[in-house]
Amino acid sequence: MRVGLAGLGVMGWRIGVNLRNAGKLDVVYNRTSSKAEEFSRKYQVKMAKSVRELAQESDVIILMLSDDSAVKGVVSDILPVVKGKTIVDMSTISPSVSMELATQVFNAGGRMYDAPVVGTSIMVEQKKLTVLVGGPEEGFPEIRDLLSHTASTVLYMGKNGMGLYAKLVNNLLIGAYVASMAEAFNLGVKSGLDPKLVAEFLAKYSSARSPTSEIKAGKMATRDYSTQFATKHMRKDLEIIDREAQKLGVINPMSSLALQLYRMAESWGFSEDDYIAVLEVFMGRGVRS
Ligand SMILES: NC(=O)c1ccc[n+]([C@@H]2O[C@H](COP(=O)([O-])OP(=O)(O)OC[C@H]3O[C@@H](n4cnc5c(N)ncnc54)[C@H](OP(=O)(O)O)[C@@H]3O)[C@@H](O)[C@H]2O)c1
Repeated sequence: MRVGLAGLGVMGWRIGVNLRNAGKLDVVYNRTSSKAEEFSRKYQVKMAKSVRELAQESDVIILMLSDDSAVKGVVSDILPVVKGKTIVDMSTISPSVSMELATQVFNAGGRMYDAPVVGTSIMVEQKKLTVLVGGPEEGFPEIRDLLSHTASTVLYMGKNGMGLYAKLVNNLLIGAYVASMAEAFNLGVKSGLDPKLVAEFLAKYSSARSPTSEIKAGKMATRDYSTQFATKHMRKDLEIIDREAQKLGVINPMSSLALQLYRMAESWGFSEDDYIAVLEVFMGRGVRS
């Protein structure tokens, strides 16, 4: 089975390294070709000049791209050559868009899985990702075996789109949670508490502590916004949640409010920074210096 990977961003690069180290990666592609050249040179993996070339040389095509429009563009490019092949899309995109694309791929003689991930870039390096898979159940064991080279947990969530709906459940919670953490942190600091103590409390002793507060609270204390998960991606995910909630006819007050806060952080210049930069909205320090 030949495996190709398109998308060598923060996540895709690291996933590529894990697959390559397991001997499971045959060819890579990236829109900005310099990144693919660098990966190819460093890890001795073939580089495709176009995503269609990558698809032609692969049986399984893994995608790790930014958003709906990136995945739509790439899938439409490879549709003519997808017969007999499997697309595993690890990007976080709209479930509705993904289901539509899966139908197009099926009609062209291929199959598609949505396989978004829970975890940060560091967790990719530690192979501690959780992957949430949606798509035809009979092909799942093969997908699970492949993804096990870069993830500790690979869960089958149901038919196409279900992996992505599960991912939205997760990101609704962490989006609202980190915005709440920022609000709580700011209240603590403005009251005169030592920021380091507030961070330690949130990470270790709060009754609402979590893996997210463990990772993020210390960074809030030092205003270290080095990117693990960019504000622009959290904003995108909350926008997807807003649209899907509307379609489903369910209310989503917490994530709607959080979305406004991340949009504000972006408008102040924190789009590429880690999403904990939403703290700046509460601290009121204004645009990024
Ligand atoms: N970072 C995290 O911690 C994390 C965690 C869970 C899930 N995710 C999700 O995983 C996905 C990737 O995240 P990331 O952090 O790796 O993003 P990233 O660093 O911004 O990388 C995005 C990748 O998509 C490619 N791309 C963007 N637009 C494209 C287009 N129109 N056509 C072809 N390629 C295009 C980029 O190519 P260029 O190099 O040419 O720009 C790059 O390879 C996102 O959906 C994100 O929400 C991320």
